[in-house]
Amino acid sequence: MSRIAYVDGQFVPHRQASVHVEDRGFQFGDSIYEVWSVRQGKLLDEDGHFSRLERSLAELQIENPRSRASYRLVIRDLLRRNRIRDGLIYLQVSRGVARRNHAFPHHPVPPTLVLTAKSVDVDKAEAQAALGIAIITLEDIRWGRCDIKTVNLLPNVLAKQSAVEAGAGEAWLIDRDGNVTEGSSSNAWIVTANGVLVTRPADNSILCGITRMRVFQCAKSLGFLVEERAFSLEEARLARESFITSASTFVTPVVKIDDQIIGNGAPGLMALALRSTYFKQN
Ligand code: PDD
Repeated sequence: MSRIAYVDGQFVPHRQASVHVEDRGFQFGDSIYEVWSVRQGKLLDEDGHFSRLERSLAELQIENPRSRASYRLVIRDLLRRNRIRDGLIYLQVSRGVARRNHAFPHHPVPPTLVLTAKSVDVDKAEAQAALGIAIITLEDIRWGRCDIKTVNLLPNVLAKQSAVEAGAGEAWLIDRDGNVTEGSSSNAWIVTANGVLVTRPADNSILCGITRMRVFQCAKSLGFLVEERAFSLEEARLARESFITSASTFVTPVVKIDDQIIGNGAPGLMALALRSTYFKQN
């Protein structure tokens, strides 16, 4: 079955879906995006991702081209046309098309809106989570507004590529103080020897993950304590458990950080409990 994308108001065959050469997203990365997971036809954390989409646009003074109701209609239609039950929705809004000039266009131009959808193999994802993933660590070389979900992802791309080349599932980024900021496309968590969940506070140095916020609720319902504070790579290496969160990985246990085995080398029980609670609560 051929895939269908949505570009500026039209459903088009995926292969022909394109934006203009002078789209500011293409030339400057002047663009923001969102990713939703779809399970059994349902968007997970639907409103949380819409809220962050609206915030990212407002932070960059890009006009929001649609209402939530309108986005919802397009997303439902896109899922139906692509016959997706379990998968991912990708939505991107750029500042639009204009003659190349770093400053915003002199005369307002309509933002460019693009959506794509893809299926995921749920069994494969569950098998991965049951095994856990390895992490490599790298210096965080990103800019000072990582709280905005922009498509300026070059450091993240390079970090993920290094992880792939090392046979790892994710790269954690380390700030100048030796603390973990987050993963190249996920938030980072550890569990201390006392069984307390620790994750970095959502300031400008990380993306405030929607899954991260949901996991706070899951932790509460399971009676787990959460501390929002910076943690060092050293502390992470000694952690009882560790895991990552994101819309595409949900809660995925970490079993190795660089050359250090975490806990007994198997996915942690708290991480697995959070993963199953995440699906129950969504
Ligand atoms: N990534 N941090 C970064 C740098 C991310 O790119 C992501 C998500 C997260 C987790 O956010 P959330 O829980 O809202 O997905 C944290 C998405 C999945 C992506 O880029 O594909």
